[in-house]
Amino acid sequence: MMLLSFLALSALSLGDAASIPPIAQGPRGGWYHEPGHPVTRLFQRGTPNPPHGLQTILDAFSGPFPPPNIPQSWIAALNASMAAGKIPNIPVTTMAGNGLPAYPNKLNPSDPSVCSTTYGCYAPGDLWNAPNGTVGLSFDDGPLPTSPPLYTFLKSNNLHATHFFIGVNILHNPNVFLQAFQDNQDHIAVHTYTHPYMTTKSNLDVLAELGYTSQIIADSTGGLVPKYWRPPYGDADNRVRAIAKEVFGLTTVIWNQDSADWELSGSGISLATVEASLKSWWSGPKSPGLIVLEHELSTGSVQAFIDTYPVLKANGWNIGTIPDVSLDPSKAWYQNAFNDTSPATSQTIIPGTGSPVPPGATPPGPSSTSLTSSISTSTSSSTPKNKSSASRLVQSSAYILVTIAGALVIML
Ligand SMILES: *[C@@H]1O[C@H](CO)[C@@H](O)[C@H](O)[C@H]1NC(C)=O
Ligand SMILES: *[C@@H]1O[C@H](CO)[C@@H](O)[C@H](O)[C@H]1NC(C)=O
Ligand SMILES: *[C@@H]1O[C@H](CO)[C@@H](O)[C@H](O)[C@H]1NC(C)=O
Ligand SMILES: *[C@@H]1O[C@H](CO)[C@@H](O)[C@H](O)[C@H]1NC(C)=O
Ligand SMILES: [Zn+2]
Repeated sequence: MMLLSFLALSALSLGDAASIPPIAQGPRGGWYHEPGHPVTRLFQRGTPNPPHGLQTILDAFSGPFPPPNIPQSWIAALNASMAAGKIPNIPVTTMAGNGLPAYPNKLNPSDPSVCSTTYGCYAPGDLWNAPNGTVGLSFDDGPLPTSPPLYTFLKSNNLHATHFFIGVNILHNPNVFLQAFQDNQDHIAVHTYTHPYMTTKSNLDVLAELGYTSQIIADSTGGLVPKYWRPPYGDADNRVRAIAKEVFGLTTVIWNQDSADWELSGSGISLATVEASLKSWWSGPKSPGLIVLEHELSTGSVQAFIDTYPVLKANGWNIGTIPDVSLDPSKAWYQNAFNDTSPATSQTIIPGTGSPVPPGATPPGPSSTSLTSSISTSTSSSTPKNKSSASRLVQSSAYILVTIAGALVIML
């Protein structure tokens, strides 16, 4: 069983590796923001940025996670934010018997000083509603082998969506990534590297989850620096939010409706039920606008959107990506570019210092040779609904590998 799974994994991972087309560098001629912007500095490692390609990315990003060699520039930026009092000293949570992350010493998760999204608290900087009459389209957990039919459908309907991508899945499905980024010219955003409950993670682990995902996106897009992230299971609090914002410039995006399509991979819900929910929102009130939690995680979750799109279209919504429906007047998709094709270039700046990068500088990343596979998880949560852990922790696939301290653990 182990062996079979491993072979299936290898086929899956390597199957997507062949013939990766180069990133089109053509349209990018200059920075959207000034080159010395503190956040873009964190992700500039050479001139030009490393070319997108499986070997480059694999070399930089394969290995145990989090790796031991987190870039000093990220740690320095975290230290500086802490010293400036920008990162609240909130203790990490542990998973409780009810499947929800719990704080020690009966700390109240709903207190504004903590503001846990898992317990329904949204902070002023968060994005969860869309303007009246608009739908911000987003899909979580890709890129995966289940994603391409969604991308083909979006493109054939002239739609652009935000994809909250998992770092490990970008690593192992590079051609699916490129279909979203290059063919569809869709918006790419961060959904962490390994999809954990982020409030359970130490500051350094939060740094690694967000930093490496932003880095692999930058490396795979010719240097675009992500501007938005969505916490897995919708689990964030003021500490996690602040690290995302202060160190990496990331805005936290939640949702105002949960399609529960993440349960389709298990036995929790039927496709008909998911589609009924989607149709009721697509044909329902226009105020506020909609940000619906949807996934590219399974054939069913993709099908639910495709099947119900005619209702969405018929009801006259303005449909766009998450930044398109955000309150950010610039509507920029990235911190250093307006969208996938607008100008942005690499700069010779060492992360965090503004100094030139010597030629051939080594990219940060796990350096050992062990493998981490695609994460195909049905474990997204419904923020205010706090479902039981049993239903949330159903793993949907026979090829989930999690690398723990360099050892391969196969969960069937
Ligand atoms: C960050 O702070 C820690 C704890 O104070 C310290 O040990 C470490 O050297 C600092 N690292 C950097 C890069 O500033
Ligand atoms: C679970 O959600 C309900 C509302 O749906 C809320 O009243 C209750 O406090 C929540 N429980 C926890 C532990 O968050
Ligand atoms: C959105 O719609 C609500 C309800 O119709 C209305 O009260 C509100 O003023 C609208 N907001 C804007 C910005 O137009
Ligand atoms: C990207 O921005 C350019 C303007 O800079 C615009 O012409 C193009 O349509 C945009 N692409 C998408 C996919 O929104
Ligand atoms: Zn997710």
